[in-house]
Amino acid sequence: MGRLEDKVAVITGAGRGIGREIALLMAREGASVVVNDLGGNADGTGTGKIADDVVAEIRALGGEAVSNTDSVADVAGGERLVQTALDAFGGMDILVNNAGILRDRTIFNMEESDWDAVQAVHLKGHYACSRPFARYIRDSNRTGCRILNFSSVSGLIGNFGQANYGAAKAGIAGFSRVLALELAKYGCTVNTISPGALTRMTIPLREKRGEQVADEDLNEGGPQHVAPICAWLATDAAAGITGQIFHTGRGGIAIMQQPAIIRQFHKSSGVWTLAELDRYVPQLVSAKLEHDRMVQSAAIPQEIG
Ligand SMILES: NC(=O)c1ccc[n+]([C@@H]2O[C@H](COP(=O)([O-])OP(=O)(O)OC[C@H]3O[C@@H](n4cnc5c(N)ncnc54)[C@H](O)[C@@H]3O)[C@@H](O)[C@H]2O)c1
Repeated sequence: MGRLEDKVAVITGAGRGIGREIALLMAREGASVVVNDLGGNADGTGTGKIADDVVAEIRALGGEAVSNTDSVADVAGGERLVQTALDAFGGMDILVNNAGILRDRTIFNMEESDWDAVQAVHLKGHYACSRPFARYIRDSNRTGCRILNFSSVSGLIGNFGQANYGAAKAGIAGFSRVLALELAKYGCTVNTISPGALTRMTIPLREKRGEQVADEDLNEGGPQHVAPICAWLATDAAAGITGQIFHTGRGGIAIMQQPAIIRQFHKSSGVWTLAELDRYVPQLVSAKLEHDRMVQSAAIPQEIG
């Protein structure tokens, strides 16, 4: 018996890469799967029928799946996607907001269209698919539901040349924290994934640096390493875990810190003078650097074989 038997999962951008691996693993664990993918190019242009190929793979494994080619960047598309699950399988338990594109440019060269396209697929895409699912959960009293959102080191830490993508991915982390609060009373958990995997999104970045990607690299760092934590977070075992950010890839699983006050001063006798700030701001910055050192040493991977 699989760990996701009787669950219905909708996975966006599941025609290839990380989404495809999640779809295959969830199907192997017994979930009925809606494979969504627009099938376009890495920059978001074009369309294609790749979702059907993943549906065929799942059916060949003996699983249940249907395809959907709506764009997640479209509110009506998000509604049709949720409706696809309801029509095909009579319910919905899991939403994985994985679809994504890249339009990397430094701020000097970033056109409005590059900014808008990336916000539309990533940040608006999360909203467009989550809202109909949240309404369905509220209106049907469905319990034990799961939302997994896809952020990135680019937005959580920072990456050169990705102001549009980093802004969207940081926004997704904020979106997830709010959704976790709003859906708690329905027993729905909302967690964020920060993945690292060799896919068509990242392989070209390596090739640009002159590094070739061999089969061995794909074995060690392919998208199959991201799928297990996503499937596990969708199981009943993860019922109490919400509002967290998990970093995963290349055999690693990690939990990330989130914004929190590290040290603070309070002045009750009036507004701060600039001279007082000369004295206290450096103490705040020192506390932050000390905190960073502590976190760095705690984050050294523990090998489990
Ligand atoms: N690969 C990594 O190392 C990495 C790192 C950080 C974050 N991520 C995030 O993980 C997710 C998956 O990335 P991946 O590496 O598998 O990329 P990928 O390009 O292999 O797959 C993304 C899929 O999303 C689909 N898609 C794009 N726009 C869509 C739309 N409007 N509607 C429906 N589908 C659409 C694409 O057709 C594609 O099949 C993305 O959100 C990405 O930003 C990936």
